[in-house]
Amino acid sequence: MRMHARSSSGAKKRATDSDLHAEPQGTAAGKVILLGEHAAVYGKHAVALPIPTAVTANVTATDSGDSKYISDLLKVVRRELEIEGDTFGVDVRSRLPPGMGLGASAAIAVAMIRAVSTSRELGLGDEDVNRIAFECEKVSHGNPSGIDNAIATFAVPMLFSNESELSIEQLELQETPPLVIAFSGRRGSTHEQVAGVRTRYEAQKSHYAAIFDEIDALSRSAAKALAAGDYHELGMLMNICQGLLNAIEVSTPELESMVGMARAAGAAGAKLTGGGGGGSVVALCPGAVADVQKAFSTAGFETLLLTQMEKG
Ligand code: MEV
Repeated sequence: MRMHARSSSGAKKRATDSDLHAEPQGTAAGKVILLGEHAAVYGKHAVALPIPTAVTANVTATDSGDSKYISDLLKVVRRELEIEGDTFGVDVRSRLPPGMGLGASAAIAVAMIRAVSTSRELGLGDEDVNRIAFECEKVSHGNPSGIDNAIATFAVPMLFSNESELSIEQLELQETPPLVIAFSGRRGSTHEQVAGVRTRYEAQKSHYAAIFDEIDALSRSAAKALAAGDYHELGMLMNICQGLLNAIEVSTPELESMVGMARAAGAAGAKLTGGGGGGSVVALCPGAVADVQKAFSTAGFETLLLTQMEKG
């Protein structure tokens, strides 16, 4: 199963399909979380879809041009692969906007690890790639659930949880859900948002635990609704989830306004996606993709559509 993402406008700042490496040594998917962000950190279920081939990477001879971020990730990769003495860099291209909740950091890690594996003929399988990318995510996010690296690696729609052990249930979809992702333009720091939720959780444990349990139940129902193509049901579940994300203080006035805008334009459901505090919203828009997209663009928000899915 493959899904394709298309940027509707303003892609100039980022790599486009044609800018990505023609035959890259490593590729990885981005992600859009439909339900379950933050609760996933507490072992609860989350539902996510891949944004395929969002990042490509190739190994280069030297690391002189790498950013600190890439260098830090490379240190982890070298340590995990026990190739500390091997000098190289990576050329990474991404069509995901950073800090928009679409899994750019995990996708960069996965594409890099695969590029190193290809270049050094290490023959890493997906399990290894996912495990090492999880270590990279700890550098980026502090205390990640592992959902971003899992979807970057396996690139399938999934019901994810990682309580005492990692569980990935692949969801077989009948079609590409009519989703519109809209970028607030304000970067959210997943690290900060996850840390903030942890502080509030410690102060209000029973209330937060009840919220996470409810998000868990919403995610499990949402996985069924998504697989059945029941968008009316799924949209309602997303709307409830947004209320709970607001309750744990990861939403912002701007995200709330974007959610309202999508619903007013006909979305069956809309919520923030990813860490929040900025970043993006995702709207489920059966019969209303064009209307919702127009509402966002009229208000000055860039959008991304998941428009095509092939089976095979
Ligand atoms: C970030 O994409 C999703 C969060 O739940 C963090 C995580 O699960 O690692 C906010």
